[in-house]
Amino acid sequence: MDFQKDFPILKSTVNGNPLIYFDNAATSQKPKCVIDALSKYYESINSNVHRGVHELSQKATSEYEETRNIVGDFIGSETPEQIIFTKGTTDGINIVASAWAENQLQKGDEILITTMEHHSNIVPWQMLCEKLGAKLVVCPINDAGEILMDELKKLISDRTKLIAVTHVSNTLGTINPVKEITNLAKENNCKILIDAAQSIPHFKVDVNHLDCDFLVFSGHKIFAPTGVGILYVKKDRFEEMKPYQGGGDMIKEVSFEKTTYNTYPHKFEAGTPNIAGVIGLKTALKYVNNIGIEKISEIEDELLIYAQESISKINKLNIFGNAQNKASVISFTVDGIHPFDIGTLLDQLGIAIRTGHHCTQPLMKFFNIPGTARASFAFYNKKSEIDFFIDSLKRTIKMLG
Ligand code: ALA
Repeated sequence: MDFQKDFPILKSTVNGNPLIYFDNAATSQKPKCVIDALSKYYESINSNVHRGVHELSQKATSEYEETRNIVGDFIGSETPEQIIFTKGTTDGINIVASAWAENQLQKGDEILITTMEHHSNIVPWQMLCEKLGAKLVVCPINDAGEILMDELKKLISDRTKLIAVTHVSNTLGTINPVKEITNLAKENNCKILIDAAQSIPHFKVDVNHLDCDFLVFSGHKIFAPTGVGILYVKKDRFEEMKPYQGGGDMIKEVSFEKTTYNTYPHKFEAGTPNIAGVIGLKTALKYVNNIGIEKISEIEDELLIYAQESISKINKLNIFGNAQNKASVISFTVDGIHPFDIGTLLDQLGIAIRTGHHCTQPLMKFFNIPGTARASFAFYNKKSEIDFFIDSLKRTIKMLG
């Protein structure tokens, strides 16, 4: 099936060539229905939410709140109230750091992460550790880019209060055994946050099954607009969370003497939110549901196998991320050629890939490289595009090598 017809940008040309978009791990393209949902919102119901008796505000509120139900169903949340709208994954992690971890952790406590974390799942914890006198502990990985589970078990101590781990590595594509890690966290009485930024667009993510405490993702990776994301919170954790931002909508009553707070999730959604983005997210998830996330996984698995088979035959090309369980991401270097040069020449042919450290500098340090070139596929990509990419990559290597 040709899904590209749903995505207007995929019909465009770049540098005189048809666009081949292989930078899906950075952000996904948007289907026409999502673009239309944004225009429709601004054209017909634009107004603020939770703040008016007038017709437009009522309509906007109901469209906005409906997203909470759709997201809740999409990830298997027990109730829609456990869904907090954020700006994105980074925002979600920072909220957990400020609203939960800051008042639950003490000096000497530990937060356990892994070598393959994105900067957004490192820096907020480092900042918090500095503030509290807590310690950031890093679980090592093997050369294939898989978490060393035996090491992880050893690193969990009675000081470990939180494990924060990515579901899928944005750089390597590794799919981590997060259910197993959640079980370990529970056995050791510590909490777990799952960064689902790179898993949510590719396969079924079910918070009920995972039984995690927190899960975060960004809308823009799953065909929704930028600037909107989700923080899922397990019910018990809400009782431990303190509001991290004060303002409108998060309050019940305000006086100069004392303020009482709204119930969750609103307690953690101060100020006018990204209403159009939230409505766009609902449309994107409905679009995914229509295709079926299982179908999406199937297509992407096939694309990954197809691409890996041909790319691994290229001389002097090294793949980073050879996990048994892997999502549709291929990170690579070519001996003697800078990834940036590969990216620039491919761009001349209309092929968009990402080059650099992918916001995972400690991971680059582990592999002792400055960066990689990264091709990341979505279900709308085609084998014919992979053929053109491989052919262009070979020509690029010949030219630069
Ligand atoms: N985290 C995004 C990426 O991997 C931006 O490109």
